[in-house]
This record gives sequence, C-alpha cells and structure tokens, in this order.
Amino acid sequence: MAFTIKINGASHVVDVDGDTALLWVLRDVLGMTGTKFGCGMALCGACTVHVDGAATRSCITTIDSVGDAAITTIEAVGETSAGRKIQQAWLDLDVVQCGYCQSGQIMSASALLASNAHPGDADIDDAMSGNICRCGTYVRIREAIKQAALSTGAKEQRG
Ligand code: FES
Ligand code: FES
Repeated sequence: MAFTIKINGASHVVDVDGDTALLWVLRDVLGMTGTKFGCGMALCGACTVHVDGAATRSCITTIDSVGDAAITTIEAVGETSAGRKIQQAWLDLDVVQCGYCQSGQIMSASALLASNAHPGDADIDDAMSGNICRCGTYVRIREAIKQAALSTGAKEQRG
C-alpha cells in the first residue's frame, strides 16, 4: 500500500505494508540510516525520531499510524534551534564513545530542550531514562544538555 509521509520537510511516497515500522521505512526504504536499530521493542531508544516534535520510538511506530505528522530524524535535527544547540554541546563535551546510541540520545535531548528551555535534573532523568548507552556516557549527556540549555538562556537574554 502507498503511504505519503513527511520527513525532514519533504514528502515521500513509500509502498509498504501498513504495519511496517517507521524505522524500517527510514532505513531500508529511504536509506536514512542515521536512525539506529537496537532492541525493536521500545526498550533502548536507539531508534528515536520526532513525530510532531515528540520523541518517538520508530521501531514500534507503524507507518499507518503516522498520517500527516511531521517526522524529523537525526539527519535534519540540526536544522532546528534546539537540535543545533544540542549537537554543538555534544561536540564541545565530546559526549560520544562508540556512537551507536547517540542518534537516539540527541533526538530525545533535542525534544526535551525544545519543550523545556531550562530542564532540571528531574526533567533530564524523565526525558532520557529510556535511552540506553552501553558505553556509559550518561554523565556527559547530562552536562551537554545543561550546556545547551545555558546557550538557549544566553540567547534569550540577548534577544
Ligand atoms: S530499537 Fe527502538 S527502542 Fe530500541
Ligand atoms: S556511545 Fe556507545 S552505546 Fe552509547
């Protein structure tokens, strides 16, 4: 069946079964491999994308449930204000180790910052607890989110 989906500001027509996971449409049909497969059961966060701005596990999101929602992936999150600040903080603090989980980490962190310009520790714990990092980069992730939030605050104060 043909579905028209909006990804990173562009429309794509894909011909797949309705119960196909968005993750596999991104990776296998459209060749957008920045979104990672980890568990396939909404347990690790590696596959996180934004659906209308909300951090969403693409491994359990069927293509027939997406409708007209705007999907953003790691390939374009840097074009958003929050995503740009998060990615810069990730670079500044050398957050990444092996990197496998980091697309999902950045997508969850960007969604958090877009909805909460000044997240506290509890907010960060709540937003990031579903993103697993086998390399244990959690301390740097927390610091990078705080640094990105400070850069947001500085801009707001200047603006
Ligand atoms: S692959 Fe989707 S949460 Fe693990
Ligand atoms: S950086 Fe290796 S799993 Fe997170």
